[in-house]
Parts: sequence; C-alpha cells; structure tokens
Amino acid sequence: MATPDWSAIESLPRTPLRDLFAADADRLSMLSTDVAGIHFDFSKTHLDGAALDAFAALAKSADFAAKREALFAGEPVNVTEGRAAEHTAERGEGAEDSVARAAAYHGRMRGLIDAIEGEALGPIRHILHIGIGGSALGPELLIDALGREMDRYDVAIVSNIDGCALEEAIASFDPHATLIAVASKTFTTTETLLNATSALDWMREHGVEDPYGRVIALTAAPDKAIDWGVDETRILPFAESVGGRYSLWSSIGFPAAIALGWDAFEELLDGAAEMDRHFRLTDLRSNAPVLAAFADLYYTQNRGCETRGVFAYDERLRLLPSYLQQLEMESNGKSVTADGQPVGRATAPITWGGVGTDAQHAVFQLLHQGTHLIPLEFLAVIEGGDTLAEDHHRALLLNCFAQGAALMAGRANDDPARAYAGDRPSMTLLLDELDPRTLGALIAFYEHRTFVSAALLGINPFDQFGVELGKEMAKAAERGGQDFDPSTDDLIRRAFG
Ligand code: F6P
Repeated sequence: MATPDWSAIESLPRTPLRDLFAADADRLSMLSTDVAGIHFDFSKTHLDGAALDAFAALAKSADFAAKREALFAGEPVNVTEGRAAEHTAERGEGAEDSVARAAAYHGRMRGLIDAIEGEALGPIRHILHIGIGGSALGPELLIDALGREMDRYDVAIVSNIDGCALEEAIASFDPHATLIAVASKTFTTTETLLNATSALDWMREHGVEDPYGRVIALTAAPDKAIDWGVDETRILPFAESVGGRYSLWSSIGFPAAIALGWDAFEELLDGAAEMDRHFRLTDLRSNAPVLAAFADLYYTQNRGCETRGVFAYDERLRLLPSYLQQLEMESNGKSVTADGQPVGRATAPITWGGVGTDAQHAVFQLLHQGTHLIPLEFLAVIEGGDTLAEDHHRALLLNCFAQGAALMAGRANDDPARAYAGDRPSMTLLLDELDPRTLGALIAFYEHRTFVSAALLGINPFDQFGVELGKEMAKAAERGGQDFDPSTDDLIRRAFG
C-alpha cells in the first residue's frame, strides 16, 4: 500500500464556484445524489472532476475500500482498544454473528417495552432517561425530532451533573409513575451514576417503596449494573463493540423506542441500513458520505478551514448540530495516526451551527462578510412539521435556498462595507420528509462521512482517550489532598474554602 500523498489535494486550483458552474453543464448531476428520501447537493462546494480524481487516488492509496470492508466485517478497526465498531450490525448490516446478537438484544428490548406497556412495573407515564454524551445525545435528538405529537409518555433526558438539570426534569413528574432508565455503556460514568442515585432518593422521599423496581439499565456492562442494584431482568445489554457515540441504534435508543413506538424504531434502523448499503456498495463518485467527506477534507487540507457550520432550516432538527459535535469531534479530534505517528495535518474541523432562520439574524453576518472561510451545510425538509398556513414553511425553505445562493454569488458594490465577495461554499441536504426512515439514513450518513475522513487521514475514529485526563483530575480533586497548579488550587480554595 502506498503512503497517501496529500500534495495533489493541497495543490488543487482554487477555481471560483461560478466558474466551476460555467465550465461544466453537468456539474449539478455530477455532484448530487439521492439516497433514502434525502437529496444531497454538493455542487456549491469547490469539488470538481479534478478534485474527485485526486481524492479517488488518495482513497486508493489509503486503502479505503479495504478499511470500509473491515468496518462492516466486524474486524477490530478500533485498533487502540482492540475491538470492532459494530454500529451497522445494529441495523442488520455487518458480520452474521454480530447481526444475530444485535437482533437478540433488540428482541429483549422489545420484550421489556411490552412488559412496561403492560404495566408489569406498575403504571408508567414518565420516562426519566439518565445518561451523558453518546448515552444521551442520540435519544434526545430522536425524541426532539420525531416526538412532537408523542402522547404515550413524557420523556426527560438528563445528562448534566448540575443538579438543576435533574430538578427541572422531575419537577412535573409523578415519582409513582416514573421509570428511570440508566443509560451508560460502561456503567461507571460519574454524572450518570450520581444523577441516578439522586433520582432514586427522590422516589424514596416521595414514598415509592421499591425504587429499584422502577429502574432499568441500558448498558454494555451488565455486571456493573447488577452490582449497582439493577435487577438482571431489567437490564437491556448491547455489545461492547458499539461505540458510545454510535449507540442510539442499540438499547440506548430505549426512550425513543418506547415513546415513538417499536415500528418507528425499526423504521429508523431500516433507514440507516439503506444508507449503510449505499455507502458500502456505491461508487465513490456518487457515494453521499464519501463525497461529503471529500468536501470536508478539501476545505481543511486545501483551504485551511478550521470550522464547519451546520444549519438546520427545521426546528425539528435543532439538536442535530450538538449531536454532530460529539460524533465528529470526539471521533476525529485526534493528533496521531492509528499506528501512533503524528498525523501531521489538520484533522476534524470544529463543528458548530444552529437553526435557520434564527441564525441568519445572529451569525450569518460573519459567514457572508467575515474573514473566515467556513464551509456550510444546510438541511431542510420539503414536508414541513407545522400545521400553520403554508407561508411559514415556504418562507423557511426559500430562506434556506437563498442563503446558499447568496453566499456563492456575492454582490459587488462600490461601497466596500456593502460588498459581498461571494464564492463561499455550502452543501444542501434536502429531505422529502422527516420521519424515522429519513432520520435514520441521515444519522448513518454522518457516521460514515466521519469514517471516510478518518480512513483517509489514517486516524482511529473509534477511541476517545482525550476525555480521560480531565475526568481523572476531577476525581483527584474530589478526593482532595492533591496540589494542581496555582491557578486551579486558588479556584478550588475560593469555591470550597
Ligand atoms: O466522556 C466521553 C464518553 O466516554 C463518551 O464517549 C460516552 O458517550 C460518554 O462518555 C458516556 O459514557 P457511558 O455511556 O459509558 O456512560
């Protein structure tokens, strides 16, 4: 295998977008594709035929096709931790035994949901899901995006160790009708275990006789959950090889599966599987996650862009940017290659974003006229989520499309303060509608896009050792008797005397 040579990417000419459109009448069809009810339009990025050739050559020398097969085959692609990354098996796409195991775990989850619905744990109206990071962001996104008309259960997702989060969540809950779902892959996470302990105290204080009887655990460490006090019959396991930020498809998705219904959860998995097959089988040049990653890498490696902005022109997708922050930055925020060498180039850009049209009146000034070049991503849904007069949704969509056009076109003006340079890139993802299938496909698209960037950069997207040091130091501070630096010691003294 040759060493990937980035010089061809770094030296790609910086042809303006308007010239790229003028030079190629087929540009739109070359750079757009449709998968699982989502239209992907990459034509307003600076990718062109030459860029695609250069990236295809790079992918070849990075052994991309073999890495992708290794991912689906359940090989230990997470080399630093010596394990596979089997989120696709949860959707039925992966090694046969892993797919069978995931199906069995899903069967167990469905059984417990049926039992809860049948009031085997007493009458339940409220679900208190306690987890953090990958054990919270996914379910929260699903419920916020798809649960607008959900009336079967009230669901609260609590992550922060700040007691305000838990207090706010339980304020309107009846402790006698609440189920606590403790979601933690490792079942060791400080925030989650403290919040769960406090939630049990809350139940006890309100006279719930057997609070542990109302607790279920969603975890890859069932033994630890049992040690903590959860009854074995109420543990919903998932495989160790499913990474935390890739785990919403497993039992971590429990609150969505119970609140939106099992059929919706299965449709979510089916949509993701459709994207898996597209990613695995489609030629690189019409492969949505691959093209998106090529654009991402073009902007970091050729243009030196340090951030990328994601703007959802749909309230239902307002949590997507924060979901993507974990997925992309925890996966690809690395400085060494999978074999421990300095990576020597920029890895993940900083992902940030917001909701349109709100963001237009807040941060878009910088995007149109600031000194940073920020590749943008717009998301919109043809079928609106509201029932108001059509003008709302029509205006929303037209604003979204107008932003991409304005950023690209710019506008000359004799007054420099009123001039727009233009040539600012964006991609647009246009969903037919927002339902479990399209959302599943959308999230899987982002997972694979992240994987492609990692594969081409030669980094391991599946570990996250960078989060450990701060955790250890917080624990040391909790134990006390340890000196940090003068500034930190002073802060601790000021807070605790
Ligand atoms: O601190 C980072 C992290 O390990 C994430 O990767 C993970 O999603 C989160 O913490 C929660 O971990 P767990 O599910 O084990 O509680």
